[in-house]
Amino acid sequence: LSQIKTDDDTPGLATYDPGFTNTASCRSSVTYIDGEKGILEYRGYPIEQLAEQSSFLEVAYLLVNGTLPSKTEYEQWVHDVTYHTFVHENVKSFMQGFRYDGHPMGMLEASVGALSTFYPESANISDPDNRYIQIVRMIAKMPTLGAWAFRHGQGKPYVYPDNDLSYTANFLSMLFKMSEQKYEPDERLVNALDVLLILHADHEQNCSTNAVRSVGSSQVDPYSAVAAGIGALYGPLHGGANEAVLRMLRRIGSKEEIPDFIKGVKDGNERLMGFGHRVYKNYDPRAKIIKKACDDVFEVTGVNPLLEIAQELEKIALEDEYFIKRKLYPNVDFYSGLIYEAFQFPPEMFTVLFAIGRTPGWLAQWLEMVQDKDQKIARPKQIYTGDRGLEFTPASQRW
Ligand code: ACO
Repeated sequence: LSQIKTDDDTPGLATYDPGFTNTASCRSSVTYIDGEKGILEYRGYPIEQLAEQSSFLEVAYLLVNGTLPSKTEYEQWVHDVTYHTFVHENVKSFMQGFRYDGHPMGMLEASVGALSTFYPESANISDPDNRYIQIVRMIAKMPTLGAWAFRHGQGKPYVYPDNDLSYTANFLSMLFKMSEQKYEPDERLVNALDVLLILHADHEQNCSTNAVRSVGSSQVDPYSAVAAGIGALYGPLHGGANEAVLRMLRRIGSKEEIPDFIKGVKDGNERLMGFGHRVYKNYDPRAKIIKKACDDVFEVTGVNPLLEIAQELEKIALEDEYFIKRKLYPNVDFYSGLIYEAFQFPPEMFTVLFAIGRTPGWLAQWLEMVQDKDQKIARPKQIYTGDRGLEFTPASQRW
């Protein structure tokens, strides 16, 4: 791109790095990953301990604030988030305007972006109190919007938040409540979903977080920045992979078909979805925890028959030279779809669940970015490959 710095006015050596495989875009103290060893820590705490002993709202506090909360801080945090679960009635009308068969990620992306019009003060990102309230609002309202997008697709009336329930139980209530009676989900399902949300809460500079930071670096309001993150997460190579895994398992259909499928992957016809990761060159630690959560959920819902195919697929792939050589292991998406399906979520809802889990991470990263004095507007270089200095001929003379 350019040569070693020759004088004070030149930027010096620049690299061509599409996909940022070898370029750090920021400094961050939110999440640590060692992809070779399969380590994931939020603010220094191992994911295994958080998944086992914490709750999603406590993890959200940890990510956003940087430390674990005291009892008073936690109670205040839970109170604040619970208080903000409702959305303006006009947001409901906005949601009702979508096609019934539209993808819920499109609905979520648009409605989160639209929240900036309901909270115009969110544009004032230099005020810490204002930042705090927008962060709380977004964490609080995301399940409401996600659940309503789901019910919209099903043609069912939207369910208002039940603030007597925990964060995750309330989400299940808004999704599945079918009568006036209070919805009381099985505790094992609530806990399993809470674990899944924790596992998705942050993952350093992944595609969607990079989108949040990149858009946020223009100093736009956080709703617009997070809407950009939701857009990035929507893609099949990122959050959409768990949906793709389920479709793939269904298409394979039986264990006998696996060798043919693997051959197609090795011939380059398609990818084994839910395998491989830009950072993990070892077993994704989240995939291990999810595998265990599968057992808890299936105890309540009965075993998903696709589990057998997934397990066999994993076994065969992990023994195959193609996958070994490229260090391709199951990632978080390989088993998560099976659990979501056991909850009776349609595949298009999987990424919505991912987005709800990832919201505290996006916001923690956004907050860190707007407070970083060295942060500049994201504006990468390019290598120009087009023509130069052409002579323009007006259309009237060309046609
Ligand atoms: N199946 C088959 N081959 C694969 C797979 C896969 N899932 N993933 C990578 N490869 C191969 C590539 O074909 C390439 O082989 P080659 O060197 O012979 O050309 C090699 O492994 C390296 O692949 P890249 O695409 O360069 O790796 P990259 O780091 O860019 O991609 C990604 C990472 C996008 C996750 C990739 O592994 C993939 O497409 N996986 C399937 C989709 C998926 O599960 N995504 C979820 C990721 S986790 C998340 O976003 C939450």
